[in-house]
Amino acid sequence: MKERFERARKFIPGGVNSPVRAFGSVGGTPVFVESATGCRITDADGKEYIDYVGSWGPMIAGHAHPRVVAALQQQVGKGTSFGTPCELETELAQRVCERVPGVDRVRFVSSGTEATMSAVRLARGFTGRDEVVKIAGCYHGHVDSLLVNAGSGVMTLGIPGSPGIPEALAGLTRVIPFNDVDALRQVLEAHGKNIACLILEPIGGNMGVVPPQPGYLEACRELTREHGVTLIFDEVMTGFRVSPGGARTLYGVEPDLVCFGKVVGGGMPVGAYGGGAEIMGHIAPDGPVYQAGTLSGNPLAMRAGIETLDLLAEPGVYDKLEQVGAKMQQGFEDAAREAGVAACVNRVGSMLTGFFGEGPVRDYDAAAVCDTKRYAAYFHAMLERGIYLAPSQFEAAFLSTAHGDAELDATAAAAKEAMQAIAR
Ligand SMILES: Cc1ncc(COP(=O)(O)O)c(C=O)c1O
Repeated sequence: MKERFERARKFIPGGVNSPVRAFGSVGGTPVFVESATGCRITDADGKEYIDYVGSWGPMIAGHAHPRVVAALQQQVGKGTSFGTPCELETELAQRVCERVPGVDRVRFVSSGTEATMSAVRLARGFTGRDEVVKIAGCYHGHVDSLLVNAGSGVMTLGIPGSPGIPEALAGLTRVIPFNDVDALRQVLEAHGKNIACLILEPIGGNMGVVPPQPGYLEACRELTREHGVTLIFDEVMTGFRVSPGGARTLYGVEPDLVCFGKVVGGGMPVGAYGGGAEIMGHIAPDGPVYQAGTLSGNPLAMRAGIETLDLLAEPGVYDKLEQVGAKMQQGFEDAAREAGVAACVNRVGSMLTGFFGEGPVRDYDAAAVCDTKRYAAYFHAMLERGIYLAPSQFEAAFLSTAHGDAELDATAAAAKEAMQAIAR
């Protein structure tokens, strides 16, 4: 793999097209994948791994699902991009609107980043306000306004999280901790008149998995409504994964706008944002808030999304996802306990994180004190044993309907050995 990585680094910054793939926080050389099927990936040297990254979430039905592959093969011969409406867009939009209560209209884009960026612009256009409140540790793609210092655990003015983001823009973003109703109340009471939106992952997924505490999402809904602030749920990770209607149906809290990505494209580049008819009526061409995309609603991407959502509509799918998630959690917890390694798991259905720390992990600060060195050692011990986990402590493991008992038993056995090895 080293030679491949060296070659990639000659032509691609850091050798990767998205930074976390470079193994920076665990060390070593990234796995170059040649092919993937079901819950398994095969690297360029022919070594097979059980995959718990699933392309960071989209592959909920497993890699190269025969139905998705057949749909794509059928579509590719009909043309790959039209730049004019095709009915596949309506087909996927109808499925989204029917599954997610409160979404009357949905606009497709090509990535999760585009979805959150567009939703924030819409919220600003709709409210006529400029400021944004985000949550420390929530990631919404590399949108300028949302890429402020997420490490801050306190209410603060945004600080640029990356060179290239003007301070004037970052200064419009206020960061508060997750699961902290008081912090939200304070920021809204002090600045509510200037705040366009609160954007959050309803289940934190990018500081590792961190579920909302009971009542937290309800408080977000109530307080934002009180202050005329648009509530945006970023369900790029959780949408169609944690329940048919995502976190909003799981917890019964309805935001004004919701963002999707990953699963909705079934492994093709798709994002989406949607909401009620009134707010979505402000998007061009119905309204004045401009947003567009040459490849938006791409027919291949729509086909993969339609097929994936149809697979998820089959009976028993979410029960199965819950079962495989629970089994993986059990395997990790047993292995840690037997080896005497301090660890805890946060899980919602088929997404989970095993944290190397006592926990509980309820926000970014609690996640940040976990033992990342130990995670790196565990990651490599698992990789050696043919288990491909996310190359960072602060990510989720994603399971799919393709994970079965055989794979989960093999993973639990590997976890036992790996925990013993890192406990020494
Ligand atoms: C919650 C959330 N929002 C937005 C994004 C950005 O999506 P994309 O990488 O497709 O731009 C991600 C990506 O991981 C995400 O997890």
